[in-house]
This record gives sequence, C-alpha cells and structure tokens, in this order.
Amino acid sequence: MGAKIKLGILGGGGDSLIGVLHRVASNMFDQYEIVGGVFNPVWEKNIGFAEQIGLPVSRIYKDFETLISEEVKLPENERMQVVSILTPNFLHFPMAKKLLENGFHIICEKPLTTSYEEALILKEIQELTKTVFAVTYTYTGYPMVRQMRKLVESDALGKIQKVDVQYYQGWINSIIHDPEKRASTWRLQPDKSGISCCIGDIGTHAFGMIEFVTGLQVSKVLSDLNYLYADNVMDIDGTVLIHCSNGAKGVIRASQIATGEENSIIVKIYGEKAGLKWEQENPNYLYMMEEGQAIKVLKPGNGYNSELSLDGTKLPPGHPEGIFDAMGNIYKGVARAIKGEPYDSGEFPTIMDGIRGMNFIEQTIASNADGNVWKSID
Ligand SMILES: NC(=O)c1ccc[n+]([C@@H]2O[C@H](COP(=O)([O-])OP(=O)(O)OC[C@H]3O[C@@H](n4cnc5c(N)ncnc54)[C@H](O)[C@@H]3O)[C@@H](O)[C@H]2O)c1
Repeated sequence: MGAKIKLGILGGGGDSLIGVLHRVASNMFDQYEIVGGVFNPVWEKNIGFAEQIGLPVSRIYKDFETLISEEVKLPENERMQVVSILTPNFLHFPMAKKLLENGFHIICEKPLTTSYEEALILKEIQELTKTVFAVTYTYTGYPMVRQMRKLVESDALGKIQKVDVQYYQGWINSIIHDPEKRASTWRLQPDKSGISCCIGDIGTHAFGMIEFVTGLQVSKVLSDLNYLYADNVMDIDGTVLIHCSNGAKGVIRASQIATGEENSIIVKIYGEKAGLKWEQENPNYLYMMEEGQAIKVLKPGNGYNSELSLDGTKLPPGHPEGIFDAMGNIYKGVARAIKGEPYDSGEFPTIMDGIRGMNFIEQTIASNADGNVWKSID
C-alpha cells in the first residue's frame, strides 16, 4: 500500500451532524490519514475535540487562514493534500477559494457555496490549479444508486419519460413554530445558509440525484415554496416542476415540515421500457418494474450489478451497508483521483455538480419569488 493521503478537516467538530460521517468514511478503505484541521471556531472546543479523537494538537489551527499559511510551510511529503470542508454553508466559499489558491485538493459539503456566482469563481480557480474537487452529495455513493445510473446508461429503461424525486424530513417543525428558535438556527439565516433552507439543503440532493442517475440535465424549473411565517425568509418546503434536457418532465418534492418523516428520499425514474424505485431509508433494495412483469428486487454485492455498484460493496450479499459506506465510497473515488489512478465518473460528484446545484437553488427561489414562473438552468 502506498502512503496514506494526508487529510485536513474544517468544521465537523464534536457538536456537528456530519463530522463523524466524514471521519469514518475517510478511514474506511485505509486511504487517508487525518493529520489536523479546525474543528470549531472556539479554541477550547477545537483543541478539546482534537484531543478527544486522539489527534496530535500540533496541527490543530485557530482558523482556516492559519491552517493554510502553516501547512504550506511544511515539506510536501508532510503537508495536507486534501481538505474536507464541513462547516455551515457560508464558510465553504472563502475556505475553498483560499485552499484552491494554495493548491489543496478539496472535498466540500453541499451546497457548494451560498451563491451561483461564488460557485463559478471557484470553478475558474479549480480549472487553473487542476485540483481534485469533490462535492459530497452522499447518496450517490450507495451501491444501488450507482446501479441505477448504470442501468439507465445501458439503456435498460429506454428513453426516460418521467422523474419524481422526493426528499421529505420533519425536523424543522420543532424550530419553525417557535419564534426564538427560528431566529437563531443557522439553516434559517441567509447570512449563514444562503438564500434557501429546504431547497438548498435537501432539494439540491434531489436535483443532484436526478442528474446523477439519469445522465440528463434539468433544464427548467417552476417552483411553489412554503415559508409558513411572515418573519421567516427561508423556504422550508416546496414543490418544483422540472423539464429535463431530453424533454422528460418531472417533479422534485422537498420538505422539512413533513411531520414524522426522518430522511425519506425516494427516487422514481420511469423509462419507456422500465421503471426504477429506490428509497434511502431502505437502501439495499432497488426495485425494477416492467409492464406486465413481476417486480425485480436488485440487491448490492450480487454479480448482476455493474462494476461501479460492486466497487461500492465491501461484503458479500446480505450484509447491509449504509450511509457511512456510501460516503466511504465517495472518499475512495476521490483517493483514486488524487493518486492519479483511473476511476469511473460515477465515483464522486465534482465541482460541476456543486455548481449546477447552486444554479438550481437560485432559479428555484427566483421562480417562486417571481410568481411561480419557469426559469432556465444553463
Ligand atoms: N451530505 C449530506 O447529506 C449532508 C448532511 C448534513 C449536513 N451537510 C452539510 O454539511 C455542512 C455542515 O452541516 P452540519 O449539519 O454538520 O452543521 P453543524 O452546525 O452540525 O456543524 C457545523 C460544524 O462546523 C464547525 N464550525 C463552525 N464555524 C467554523 C469555523 N469558522 N471554522 C471551523 N469550524 C467551524 C462547528 O463547530 C461545527 O462543528 C453544511 O454545509 C450542510 O449542508 C451535508
């Protein structure tokens, strides 16, 4: 085995939702070594968390600017090669920009930035520096999502004629109905989250899923969003009609007030020959439907799956793998890219997917604001 890739982490501290997912994922295939980072803007919490997870404190920095200025002084074989950005959204852009300018590879949480304009600026620098830039639309790492992509690619469905992706959660109920809580949660503050809450946070996953699985681009959107309270400026629910580049029509349904729902992503893709249905809360079952035929249930690890899907399965069939494994697969693909090894374009979403996500968010918000009108996505 070659040397492990040196990974730095920004955000993702002990108090975060997503940090543990990235730390476990980075370890999963023995490709990375976490060497330092900034886990929290409060120094005691930052250093305390590093000690808790057993990291030497010498490469725990007070902020990302110090991380970059100190890391670039290190000999190349010691320096961080890639940095994961796991902070609230508004920090993704300044962090990614400075990291790119200093030659680091990046694994960035979604949404990529807080505006489309910022996303395009990152792309310009990334093209110049030729760094690897992944955006963690985590659900694309599931073996059966990868299998959907390959089934569509192999024309098993025929021409795609209808897409329907739901992403329903109910967690914001406990916040949105409480004036104090809705004024203090970062996801409901435009300066921390960007112009959108629900569409930016989870609608963008649904959008990315459609493009990942079908290989089509969403070309137009018409949205109807829900804010519930006059003092709340951030969408917390919405329905988006879409047109795809091949003329197929469909719908993205996203909600954070779907009472009782946990993380219910349901992907339905219908072609002229067959349909596919997959649910994130039960990710090891992919349903394939053909007119007049019994439904087929495809499962990970079986030889009938594509190479891309099988590459995302570590154990023999019947050993359920989940969200940690999906993120682990993304990290594995990024490791291949960093090492200059061949990889399939389905192994991880890139900065281009992040940019399209930002375009989708902005056009979806604009569609609703302008009176539910069609808006194009370039
Ligand atoms: N891919 C997914 O499915 C998925 C799921 C959840 C969250 N996310 C994304 O991950 C990001 C973080 O979300 P979360 O739910 O973990 O947020 P969170 O609020 O739970 O945690 C944010 C973390 O960032 C740290 N932080 C804040 N400011 C910082 C700074 N200046 N420097 C260093 N660290 C700082 C905080 O200390 C905390 O540890 C968001 O962009 C979110 O959209 C993605």
